[in-house]
Amino acid sequence: MMDYDSVHEAADFVKSRLSRDVPKIAMVLGSGLDGVADAVEDAVIIPYEDIPHFPKPTVAGHSGKMLIGMLSGVPVICMRGRVHAYEGHPDAMTGLATRTLWALGVETLVLTNAAGSLLKEAGPGAMMVITDHINFAGVNPLVGLNDDRIGPRFFDMSQAWDPALTQKLFESAAACGEMIHSGVYVMAKGPNFETPAEIEMFRRMGAGAVGMSTVPECLTARHCGMRVCGVSCITNYAAGMVPGELNHEETMEFGDVAGKKLTPILKHFVTTI
Ligand code: HPA
Repeated sequence: MMDYDSVHEAADFVKSRLSRDVPKIAMVLGSGLDGVADAVEDAVIIPYEDIPHFPKPTVAGHSGKMLIGMLSGVPVICMRGRVHAYEGHPDAMTGLATRTLWALGVETLVLTNAAGSLLKEAGPGAMMVITDHINFAGVNPLVGLNDDRIGPRFFDMSQAWDPALTQKLFESAAACGEMIHSGVYVMAKGPNFETPAEIEMFRRMGAGAVGMSTVPECLTARHCGMRVCGVSCITNYAAGMVPGELNHEETMEFGDVAGKKLTPILKHFVTTI
């Protein structure tokens, strides 16, 4: 679970594998966004199943490894693969990796995901900087007893997606000559893709992208005071926006397209922190 002692056990295990200082920046890579991990040099690679208390991800495209290495000469941790609420783990599991990063001393967390677009102007292969989120999944890793050593019972989410970091993402995209959209990410629990009626509801709520992850990590990170920013890689138009069915293969294919564009942006971004 993600109690104080368990996350420190996990963090101590990771530290025991490192011969260098623990990075201050970590990134979580969504489905098919492995390009960034491939750009990490000189990496120590730790499979999740080796880390105490970590569950094993169950989705194709989520290989489940922690990479600790250098990106553009900056020490980073890359979380390749994540646990999803739809996998049926207790809610707390969706926050475990994030809290382990906190126990390691990470201060800045970059969350990426594959998402469906609700923006006409952002089709498959596009990217969207996450400016805010809507938790529509009904899951929250922080439900239960609070441990004040980790964070307060009640905490602010009014600037959960750090404005200064978000600005740097826009600047890094511009520096790379890449077009990037911005908008609100809404989390649906899945595992099904949404209905057109649900997407229409999300659109009216102001969402720009929909996916099945990221919000638990943002909540856990903000609770313990980490700074958060993030990018959705658009793999498809959300249900009902264009004719045809949605499938995971398309998600993987266009995740690759957007992931290739995202790699230089994140390589630039980490040098600005
Ligand atoms: N809905 C939810 N999650 C997703 C989608 C989608 O359309 N595309 C990629 N992940």
